[in-house]
Amino acid sequence: MGRIYDFNKPYTQYLVLRKELREQQLATQKNQQKQIEQTEKLIEKFRAKASKATMAQSLIKKLDKIDRIEVDEDDHSVMTLNFPISVNPGKVVIEAEDVSKNYDDKQVLDKISLLLERNSKIAFVGQNGQGKSTLAKCIVGEIPFTGALKLGHNVEIGYFAQNQADYLDGSKTVLDTMIDAANEKNRAKVRDILGAFLFRGDEVDKYVRVLSGGERNRLALAKLLLQPFNVLVMDEPTNHLDIKSKNVLKDALIKFEGTLLVVSHDRDFLQGLTTKIYEFKDQDIKEYLGDIDYFLEQRNIQNLREAEMRTITNAKSKEHKSSSKESYQNQKKLKSLHNKLSKTEASITKLEKVIKEIDFELSINYDETISKPNFFDQYHSKKKELEKLMENWGVITEQIDAIH
Ligand SMILES: Nc1ncnc2c1ncn2[C@@H]1O[C@H](COP(=O)(O)OP(=O)(O)O)[C@@H](O)[C@H]1O
Ligand SMILES: [Mg+2]
Repeated sequence: MGRIYDFNKPYTQYLVLRKELREQQLATQKNQQKQIEQTEKLIEKFRAKASKATMAQSLIKKLDKIDRIEVDEDDHSVMTLNFPISVNPGKVVIEAEDVSKNYDDKQVLDKISLLLERNSKIAFVGQNGQGKSTLAKCIVGEIPFTGALKLGHNVEIGYFAQNQADYLDGSKTVLDTMIDAANEKNRAKVRDILGAFLFRGDEVDKYVRVLSGGERNRLALAKLLLQPFNVLVMDEPTNHLDIKSKNVLKDALIKFEGTLLVVSHDRDFLQGLTTKIYEFKDQDIKEYLGDIDYFLEQRNIQNLREAEMRTITNAKSKEHKSSSKESYQNQKKLKSLHNKLSKTEASITKLEKVIKEIDFELSINYDETISKPNFFDQYHSKKKELEKLMENWGVITEQIDAIH
């Protein structure tokens, strides 16, 4: 909403803190409102009496000086999304046999075979450059290859290419992009669809070239909905999406009653979404019957990034592997550091609250507040204390990071 705020916190803690701050703001605002009303009443009362006229004047001045507390607007709008399926396809949706692909003399895929059943949800994972996008393009018929690839009866593929958003024509407006891609049947619904993707009012007249990455991605998703499909092939669809939109997309895909083939590096996104994983490596694919957690467990690695890095850092990681004793020590140390961190955070929150209250007091009763004995000394020492706590917090976080 036109401002930026610095929350020195991990994401989940930020969410909690954000909520608390908002509640606090609301409460303070309510308080202030009450004060203002009381003052206004007093003014009314004093006005009536000639003897109290100057009093009324000074109260009016005071009211004018108050900084009205504003509560941050929350932007709750998220896109709404659901993928209806066109017609029911046959039981086997895609069957690939010995599919090979090379770009000039560079072999990318070597005799890949796979079978996709109706309503299955599968993910392609693996290091960059291992041929995930290439196989996706073969499947949707975008590039030539050798081998056999059969689509099942009635299969209609919807394809969201990697960097799909880059293929949009920058010289068209959002609305024209949609109208041009629509057919007789859904052309009338284009504005509704755009609305669901948060393109409202004048925004549909924006040129595609000025859109942000996330907006382009949203537009590309909206465009996808203009064609019928029962199989969705999505190549890294979460690029540029904010966390809320990503969750909306994930929910829509979970509800999707068709067959899903998704390429992604995003663990959170894949978690609970797909039931089969194909890992791409050395021109081949390996099947894992389970979701991303199962896959990672099988690979005994913490996250996909590590999977990507593994080949590169293999030699290194051997030296780095700590003995189990060492790692136990680290665990212990981590636990105590996390304890320390929570305590510091609690103190920070408490102190911040105190300071906020003083600030509020200052904003509403300045003269009275500063005339309290030792007010400034106390105020400054509190601020110093907070600074110190923040510093500690930073040190502890660094220590934790160093162990990870
Ligand atoms: N049109 C192309 N011409 C030449 N090489 C290509 C082309 N497209 C992809 N490649 C190469 O093929 C390999 C696989 O690419 P890609 O399928 O995009 O990988 P992934 O999607 O798994 O990251 C990469 O080494 C890439 O550089
Ligand atoms: Mg790719």
